[in-house]
Amino acid sequence: MLVVWSINIGLVRSLTSVKRARFPTLKLLPFYALVLGALTLSLALATPSVNGGAQRRRTQRGSSKPKTPPKPKIDYTKFSHTTHAVTQKLACNSCHKVPSKNWNVVRKGDAAFQDVADFPEHSACLSCHKEQFFARERPAPSICSNCHIAVTPKDTARWLFPSLGDLTDPKLKRREFVSEFGVGFPHDKHIDVVGMILDRRQLFTNVLFQEKKPAPPKSCPVCHETYLPQGKSSEEYVVKPPKDIGDNFWLKKGTFKTIPSSHTICFTCHNADSGIAPEPKNCETCHKLTSPMQLKVDFDAKLATPMGADKVMLARWSRRQSAGAFRHEAGEHPDLSCLNCHKVDNEAFRTTDPKTMKVAVRSCGGAEGCHITTTTDEGGALNFEIDSRKKDPKFVCTKCHVTFGSEPIPENHPQAIPTPKPKKTS
Ligand code: HEC
Ligand code: HEC
Ligand code: HEC
Ligand code: HEC
Ligand code: HEC
Ligand code: HEC
Ligand code: HEC
Ligand code: HEC
Repeated sequence: MLVVWSINIGLVRSLTSVKRARFPTLKLLPFYALVLGALTLSLALATPSVNGGAQRRRTQRGSSKPKTPPKPKIDYTKFSHTTHAVTQKLACNSCHKVPSKNWNVVRKGDAAFQDVADFPEHSACLSCHKEQFFARERPAPSICSNCHIAVTPKDTARWLFPSLGDLTDPKLKRREFVSEFGVGFPHDKHIDVVGMILDRRQLFTNVLFQEKKPAPPKSCPVCHETYLPQGKSSEEYVVKPPKDIGDNFWLKKGTFKTIPSSHTICFTCHNADSGIAPEPKNCETCHKLTSPMQLKVDFDAKLATPMGADKVMLARWSRRQSAGAFRHEAGEHPDLSCLNCHKVDNEAFRTTDPKTMKVAVRSCGGAEGCHITTTTDEGGALNFEIDSRKKDPKFVCTKCHVTFGSEPIPENHPQAIPTPKPKKTS
């Protein structure tokens, strides 16, 4: 049996005449209706039975091109931006269109804004990938899986485009992936312009370029909230710790801050009408290709799961490179200015370069001393742990750390302890 497909591919004019002949298969009429009106083409998929069209293509190609040695096999299920944006030098918006056709379908009414909310269309690929789009692979050519969940005549659903991280409907199907990009958000350029506003339109009209600077800690929660999956429950831990937990670390709620998961806040100001660069179509200004790097993190996946860490927590925790046990909600932490610990007002802080985002051990000392005091007697946790390690080389530091605590003490730890002021002679 020959399964015939219709697929909207725009550019492939040369093949249209060859293939159109086999088009009107009854089964596929609803399918055909979907793409009618545009340049359409039927695509023979599946069965390796007689397939005149594919054979003809191959013959044509064979006779027109000189023989080349067999290429290494390319995995067409794994799209790479390095291949396309770097080697092929393609502009981001040659593939990604803003707004995508579905922008006012994925979000409705007032919530809708002109977003890039879907994968690039076939036309963005066909000029170079006819061969892969028409590959005789079952159940569908492998290249389709970069965007489609399945491609059977009955089901051509696509994954949710990952820019829609804020949509909460659990029925939406998201693909697991590791992003090739980091988001470059220059905090220092925004501290004056982003204020504490919750409504999108209000955000733009009231706060942009307002005279008075909002206090920086007030602007931060527009994009970073304390992650509280269990709401206001008085339970301290995410899940109950074992009885013999002692001084060992166990994950408490309110540990993590969220980061933006969509364009909703950014595109309030950065849109085609506002004239504030970058415009949405300039993806590359905000998304920077990053080479995979081995971050040294204070995190252990084996410990995190039994502690009840969900996906959001795992994503944040697995990037913690300073203090895996630090809890934003604990003690006096919520009353401190974010800037005490996060020097985001300095242009040296770059969200695409993890080492610039480290929280200095000194900030655990703060103005009041807090966890770092001049002497151990004054109660500093760092003082206590350094002393304990001196006495017992096997001592594990658990106050601020998850996995770092059993490593040698870094030099900057004892250096953070203030030298006692010379005694005043009164
Ligand atoms: C040749 C077409 C093409 C070009 C050019 C292109 N993309 Fe993509 N992009 C895709 C496709 C296809 C996907 C979905 C497959 C995937 O997720 O890898 C995608 C996915 C993405 C994603 C989500 C996946 C991830 O790794 O985070 C981001 C972000 C993205 N593109 C940004 C960009 C930016 C920024 C540029 C320019 C530097 C760019 N794209 C250029 C085709 C393209
Ligand atoms: C300007 C030509 C061009 C365009 C447009 C283009 N590609 Fe490619 N693509 C290439 C080249 C060259 C390679 C390298 C491997 C090869 O020769 O096939 C490649 C490789 C790939 C691969 C293999 C893994 C890799 O290195 O990325 C996938 C998957 C792929 N392309 C998907 C797409 C999709 C999907 C689109 C449309 C959104 C697209 N390409 C648009 C030229 C292009
Ligand atoms: C780069 C991403 C991408 C790849 C790769 C891709 N598609 Fe699509 N496909 C889309 C998008 C986006 C649409 C919706 C276009 C529109 O709304 O006009 C679509 C629509 C379709 C449709 C029309 C039905 C519908 O859901 O609107 C069919 C059929 C289809 N694709 C089949 C395929 C097949 C078969 C392959 C592999 C040979 C493939 N696609 C590869 C992105 C892709
Ligand atoms: C003004 C800055 C800005 C521009 C311009 C921009 N984005 Fe984004 N994008 C973001 C931010 C911020 C996020 C959310 C942070 C995150 O997901 O890490 C995001 C998330 C995404 C994601 C989710 C996946 C991921 O890598 O985390 C995709 C896909 C994406 N953007 C694609 C695009 C494409 C395609 C364009 C260009 C058409 C574009 N963006 C333009 C700022 C921008
Ligand atoms: C308009 C939105 C926005 C505002 C306002 C904002 N940030 Fe951010 N912040 C971001 C984005 C986007 C990232 C990068 C996220 C990523 O890597 O995907 C980020 C990253 C961070 C990080 C690094 C997170 C990590 O992965 O370690 C810290 C810390 C941070 N912000 C603190 C602050 C503080 C403090 C303020 C207030 C002065 C603030 N931010 C205001 C959007 C914002
Ligand atoms: C007392 C110091 C301190 C204060 C005050 C503080 N943070 Fe943090 N924050 C940290 C530490 C430590 C980390 C973990 C960093 C790491 O290990 O890489 C962190 C991590 C983060 C992250 C990354 C996600 C996460 O939880 O790991 C964001 C975003 C963030 N903080 C935003 C804020 C914002 C916004 C404020 C103010 C409302 C704030 N922080 C106040 C110390 C602080
Ligand atoms: C309240 C309005 C507002 C919001 C919200 C906003 N921005 Fe901006 N953004 C601006 C303004 C104004 C500038 C220009 C600042 C300057 O040049 O000093 C700017 C500049 C930038 C630049 C620097 C462009 C360059 O050429 O250096 C980037 C990148 C950027 N924004 C990304 C983002 C991202 C990512 C988000 C969302 C996480 C975001 N912005 C949210 C108003 C905003
Ligand atoms: C009050 C909180 C606190 C205590 C107590 C503490 N640390 Fe740290 N530690 C930090 C912070 C913050 C950082 C990140 C700062 C940096 O690396 O510059 C850090 C970083 C580290 C690192 C990573 C250095 C690197 O190479 O990236 C190690 C290892 C470490 N600590 C070990 C220890 C040991 C061992 C103890 C017990 C003697 C200890 N810490 C006690 C807060 C603390």
